[in-house]
Amino acid sequence: MALFLTMVLAFLIISIHQNVHGENSFPPKVHFSLQKHLDELRKMQGFKAPFLQRDPLISSSAPSISAPAPPATARPKIFNVTSYGADPTGKTDSTDAILRAITDALQGPSIGLLINGVVNLGGAQINLEGGNYLISRPLQLSAGRGNLMIRGGTLKASNTFPGDRYLIELSSTNKNGPLNYEFVTLRDLLLDSSFLGGGIQVVNSLRTSIDNCYITHFTTYGILVQDGHETYIRNSYLGQHITAGGDPQERNFSGTAIGLMGNDNAVTDVVIFSAAMGIIISGQANTISGVHCYNKANGFGGTGIYLKLPGLTQTRIVHSYFDYTGIVAEDPVQLNIANCFFLGDAFIVLKSVNGQVNGVNIVDNMFSGSHRGIDIVQLDQKNGPFTQIQQVVIDRNNVDGMNLKATVARGSVQGNGTSWTVDFNSILLFPDFVKHAQYTLSTSGSTFPNHALRNISNNNVLIESDIPVQATVFVTVDQGKTYTS
Ligand SMILES: *[C@@H]1O[C@H](CO)[C@@H](O)[C@H](O)[C@H]1NC(C)=O
Ligand SMILES: *[C@@H]1O[C@H](CO)[C@@H](O)[C@H](O)[C@H]1NC(C)=O
Ligand SMILES: *[C@@H]1O[C@H](CO)[C@@H](O)[C@H](O)[C@H]1NC(C)=O
Ligand SMILES: *[C@@H]1O[C@H](CO)[C@@H](O)[C@H](O)[C@H]1NC(C)=O
Repeated sequence: MALFLTMVLAFLIISIHQNVHGENSFPPKVHFSLQKHLDELRKMQGFKAPFLQRDPLISSSAPSISAPAPPATARPKIFNVTSYGADPTGKTDSTDAILRAITDALQGPSIGLLINGVVNLGGAQINLEGGNYLISRPLQLSAGRGNLMIRGGTLKASNTFPGDRYLIELSSTNKNGPLNYEFVTLRDLLLDSSFLGGGIQVVNSLRTSIDNCYITHFTTYGILVQDGHETYIRNSYLGQHITAGGDPQERNFSGTAIGLMGNDNAVTDVVIFSAAMGIIISGQANTISGVHCYNKANGFGGTGIYLKLPGLTQTRIVHSYFDYTGIVAEDPVQLNIANCFFLGDAFIVLKSVNGQVNGVNIVDNMFSGSHRGIDIVQLDQKNGPFTQIQQVVIDRNNVDGMNLKATVARGSVQGNGTSWTVDFNSILLFPDFVKHAQYTLSTSGSTFPNHALRNISNNNVLIESDIPVQATVFVTVDQGKTYTS
């Protein structure tokens, strides 16, 4: 230590000496700098002291304290499934081996609790080591566990796998609390259900992460989320059949890629490349972003996203791509569809159940079709008409080769006479429903007629004047906005 200090001081003196030579007109600055250096040095020594004391070479008088050796049993909590006898070639059944690895991982030391009733496993990992494993029973995790990961390999259902189960199941129930798992991560997995059952089931779980997974050959759901909160599905690919579109079997695709039967989940940056239904949602406050659905064309009976939450939808669908398949929303109440691209005559259906539609924004989307006269937004009123229509804004969408539909429209009509009628039926979504209208009568003649809005009925707006006049009438109507008087 003494030697170190001496060397530092010597170095400083040399620097100061040079400094004085170079800038001898400012000696006060040099003294100030020296003081500062010494202060810094003292601080540094104070900071270093506890570390230096541990080294008997530097301070022989200090007690020798070496870092404690890790206990013989402590090792990283990575459970390699091959160490349990799993067969990474996929030739023999690895169910028991992987379940043993999972059981050990779930018994690992607890570092306390996460949410009430969920043991924190500290980040234990079940490592599939890039292998391909055949399994004949679901890998069901016992309840009350959290902070663990299953990663890095392929699981394939054998031909005896039960068709009503899932390859990975977070579905056990726990008597301790309502939430059975927290922060379980499933990542970098290829899950092949071999047309027997589904991929992943997540029940009553909190903060589950499904990341970079490829899920295929499911007959029920690729991923089914029931109850719980905040399952985040991202950067993943799901398809019943492995195809890149235009598949000759497309008509026969079945199953659902993702079912969200719970609240507060997110599906982001996900491709759904085959299934009868892309995503079905029956829970609130879910968000869909960056999803590309080309699962089964609408013309073959497919649906991209089906919102089965009549009366309390609370769903946001943004920045997504609907490729020959669209969106169906039952009695939507609070639904936002924005910045999406609809290709191949794909459209949105508002389906009446109890006749309610409230708080719906369908804005800033692009629609591209084949000039077959398909409306971009349609009403399904087979169960009865929409009777409660409030705060619906369908506007600012752009269209190529399809019929624009909106709840806000502008029109004009030219004529010589005393009446002008603007018919908005070709554009307004709801029949016989205008909540607000404004007009301007423009005439260049020498007369200034009296004129008035006389009638709004069947989405037609009638303007009349007291004397014949050559005029253009401009009208703006709105079906959605709520105005206060
Ligand atoms: C698990 O496997 C990886 C590579 O397959 C290896 O690097 C690691 O040491 C193994 N860990 C254990 C605990 O066996
Ligand atoms: C689709 O399934 C039906 C029976 O469900 C079958 O008759 C038909 O051949 C299948 N189509 C194709 C293209 O495989
Ligand atoms: C408008 O109609 C009247 C007759 O009703 C006619 O006298 C007048 O020339 C017409 N004006 C124009 C610009 O066509
Ligand atoms: C408005 O027009 C409709 C359709 O032409 C008509 O049935 C209705 O009686 C009119 N209302 C008024 C107040 O003139």
